[in-house]
Amino acid sequence: MAVKIAVTNQKGGVGKTTVTINVAGALAAQGRKVLLVDLDPQGHATEGLGLTEIYDETEPHLASRLQDLNAPHSADELIYSHNEFDLISSNVDMFMLESELTGAMRARQRLRLVLEEIEEDYEFILVDCPPSLGHLTDNALLACRNVLIPALAEGTSIRALEILYDQVESLEQGYDTEITELGLVANRVENDGEAEDMMEWFEGTFGGQLPIWEVRKRVALKRAWSSGVSIFDHDESSDMETVFEDIAVHLEGVA
Ligand SMILES: Nc1ncnc2c1ncn2[C@@H]1O[C@H](COP(=O)(O)OP(=O)(O)OP(=O)(O)O)[C@@H](O)[C@H]1O
Ligand SMILES: [Mg+2]
Repeated sequence: MAVKIAVTNQKGGVGKTTVTINVAGALAAQGRKVLLVDLDPQGHATEGLGLTEIYDETEPHLASRLQDLNAPHSADELIYSHNEFDLISSNVDMFMLESELTGAMRARQRLRLVLEEIEEDYEFILVDCPPSLGHLTDNALLACRNVLIPALAEGTSIRALEILYDQVESLEQGYDTEITELGLVANRVENDGEAEDMMEWFEGTFGGQLPIWEVRKRVALKRAWSSGVSIFDHDESSDMETVFEDIAVHLEGVA
């Protein structure tokens, strides 16, 4: 059975997609069979992996499976292969899901049902979450029951993490389940005093309970993204490879 991991933080632009793609790339480079699920209606991971045409295509899509418990497509039909790992893409219909799922039956458990069909084929399934708390993120949390949390090394992350932890706790209570935080990826895109203070805050608050990795701002991460691959499949070496390798090694320990 695959280890399923929701890469999540409802705050926008903190590095969720960057972390998802590069952790997936690191696990694949270590020989693991990986599936990346793009659960963000914006489709940044789908686009970042060079599959924009799939985002624009009509059915079958993950959105149609999440919209309709009786949709005819099997989960297999949603999978595309990429150089490094497999992908279930997002598409524009995903934007409608938040309102469509409101009041619907098993509204927060639909992704779990989809992943159950295919999880035997993978060692890791990583879900890139949207920048919001709502049905989609709840689906990811309940399907994966493991979270990897990217957060900017800036003061706004304190409130963002409180809100995320509250949501995790309320799902745990409401669904009588356990959701495990696997680690915090501190994305240090600025290198000022605030970033320094926040690294200390992360350490003081989570150190000892959670592994904390520090990702620095690197143009190599952007260039790999523009080339449709992770830094591991890009012909430019980066010192961030060791950070993503460390994350992958830690996740393998969880498997
Ligand atoms: N460490 C980094 N070095 C360089 N660029 C970065 C880094 N982290 C993020 N970025 C860039 O910042 C932007 C936002 O990052 P990303 O898309 O990964 O965040 P996100 O949390 O997924 O955003 P959203 O909430 O919109 O889904 C992207 O253009 C990405 O390339
Ligand atoms: Mg994103």
